[in-house]
Amino acid sequence: MDIQGNVALITGGTSGLGMATARRLLDAGAQVVLMGRSPERAEKAAAELGGAVTVVGDVADEADVRAAVEAATRLGRLGIAVNCAGTARMGRVLGRSGPLALESFAHVVQANLTGTFNVVRLAAEAMAGNDPQDGDRGVIVCTGSITAFDGQEGQAAYAASKAGIAGMTLPIARDLARYAIRIVTVAPGPFETPMLDGASDQLRDMLLQGTVHPRRLGNPDDFASLVAHVVDNPMLNGETIRLDGATRLGLLR
Ligand SMILES: NC(=O)c1ccc[n+]([C@@H]2O[C@H](COP(=O)([O-])OP(=O)(O)OC[C@H]3O[C@@H](n4cnc5c(N)ncnc54)[C@H](O)[C@@H]3O)[C@@H](O)[C@H]2O)c1
Repeated sequence: MDIQGNVALITGGTSGLGMATARRLLDAGAQVVLMGRSPERAEKAAAELGGAVTVVGDVADEADVRAAVEAATRLGRLGIAVNCAGTARMGRVLGRSGPLALESFAHVVQANLTGTFNVVRLAAEAMAGNDPQDGDRGVIVCTGSITAFDGQEGQAAYAASKAGIAGMTLPIARDLARYAIRIVTVAPGPFETPMLDGASDQLRDMLLQGTVHPRRLGNPDDFASLVAHVVDNPMLNGETIRLDGATRLGLLR
């Protein structure tokens, strides 16, 4: 499907992978709606990108996502939805102060998994009304993580949420096939984004040691480039694609 002429809704679009994707899709001729949680970051991202519409809200909230979808359909044909919103709160299952709070686990699953599903279902509803373009009424990209497959200590909640995204990708592709909507999940390895801002030098070294080639952290443009290809390539559907330079996360010791 062409990027040009479509409207793209990008959650988590005011920073990191989402913002790089917004820049890429804008350059390719799309209009973009960025959904983020922080009004200050939304304002800054809109100023930096120029021409992006921003909606502040929570991806796990039905009304907030409906408002973002409506903002997109007001602009034109909502043909692309990219789920980049996510949180990476860490915590061991059994720590020094006892078992991980259930609230902490639920918070991560709510933002990452329920939030992604919420955007998928409401974006799909709008896309189903589009005329097909190159055979597709819409393309949805979700962001998983290689943590879904080789999660580390302290990542049970995050890994569960990302494994959920990987697991629902094929059944959603099957559900949405009758509407000619494709869905693909990208599972990045460690990328240089604000999510890693708090990472210690020791953790960064450890992440770098796990990389194979290229021996560097991912650049948000690498992610944006794959999203653009997913939109373009009609045979990509129902799949989770690792984007990690052959990185395999090892034990944190
Ligand atoms: N950076 C990495 O190493 C890495 C690796 C694998 C996967 N990911 C995933 O990539 C995605 C993008 O993260 P990033 O690295 O660009 O970091 P980031 O922190 O810059 O972006 C995440 C964005 O999601 C927003 N967000 C969080 N919860 C939200 C909610 N409930 N509603 C709306 N917005 C919400 C945040 O405000 C932030 O803008 C995330 O899903 C993350 O889990 C990142």
